[in-house]
Amino acid sequence: MSIFADLADCAIENEPMSRHTWFKLGGPARYFIRPRDEAQLLEVIKRCRENDIEMYVLGRGSNLLVADEGVDGAVIHLGDRNFGALDIDEKEATVNVGAGASLNRVLQMCVRQGLSGMECLVGIPGSVGGSVKINAGGRFGDIGNVCRKIRLIDSSGYQFERERDDIYFGYRMTNIMARFVVDVEFQLAPDDPNRIARLLKEIWLLKKNSQPTDTRNAGCIFKNPRALSAGALIDKAGLKGFSIGGASVSTRHANFIVATDGATARDVMNLIDYIRQKVSERFEVDLETEVEIWK
Ligand code: EPU
Repeated sequence: MSIFADLADCAIENEPMSRHTWFKLGGPARYFIRPRDEAQLLEVIKRCRENDIEMYVLGRGSNLLVADEGVDGAVIHLGDRNFGALDIDEKEATVNVGAGASLNRVLQMCVRQGLSGMECLVGIPGSVGGSVKINAGGRFGDIGNVCRKIRLIDSSGYQFERERDDIYFGYRMTNIMARFVVDVEFQLAPDDPNRIARLLKEIWLLKKNSQPTDTRNAGCIFKNPRALSAGALIDKAGLKGFSIGGASVSTRHANFIVATDGATARDVMNLIDYIRQKVSERFEVDLETEVEIWK
């Protein structure tokens, strides 16, 4: 533990990533670090840089597949409550949220405070930081629509802010290159809490009825190709229920891979390759993964 010896309260070695991913898969991270605050995060970044240690940023592990071999670097997780603060400005209808907060917590706050704009994000189990970085969303909108300002730290420890107009929010991507989202200001609109709660419930039910919400998965595996649905293509290729080892194409929604007992990350990767190959053969469409893969 030499490099982080004096940070023993927040840094451990050889932490299995299976404990931190929704797939419950993934080998050990050489270092697993949960900084207590921003000052400590900056110190961790400095040491990683000085010692040539690759940094991986972990949100809530809900859109992530980690190889069985693990990662030879430092997985940095902004899970401390200092990275999950939530500050509301009622007059402006803005909310400043730490990157480590869960979207679910933010949505609960929105209902309580009567603030509308994020309902489309219900059912996404991610952290605010991870969701902003990939512009998480779905059929009803995405998180970029309500972002006003983002505070960032890059891999050299440089801290800076970006306004909405400086950021490009695309389909499940942004042009944010900085490694760490620290906090985000959302611009919302006052609305009736009952109406917000109703909308959340409607969208949640649509997802619950069409997605395997109570399984070990990482959300949609592939991006939708332009004007097409990855789920529909995989379904039409007859792959629903197809398994490799302990990884199966969900019978509920074909763009989800579900891990069962005994599954390995390799099984999931092989199944991803197999699906891509079959969809390419059948429809001449190259599917691009949406899930983040650390290997
Ligand atoms: N479909 C099938 N078979 C399937 C799955 C879907 O035929 O097995 C058809 C559906 O009937 C529908 C179409 O494909 O006509 C689209 O399906 P769906 O409405 O479920 O939406 P999606 O495009 O597959 C997107 C997001 C989801 C998000 C939902 C709802 C992507 C890749 N996926 O799914 O996001 O939850 O809309 O808003 O953009 C994620 O990002 O991880 C994710 C799950």
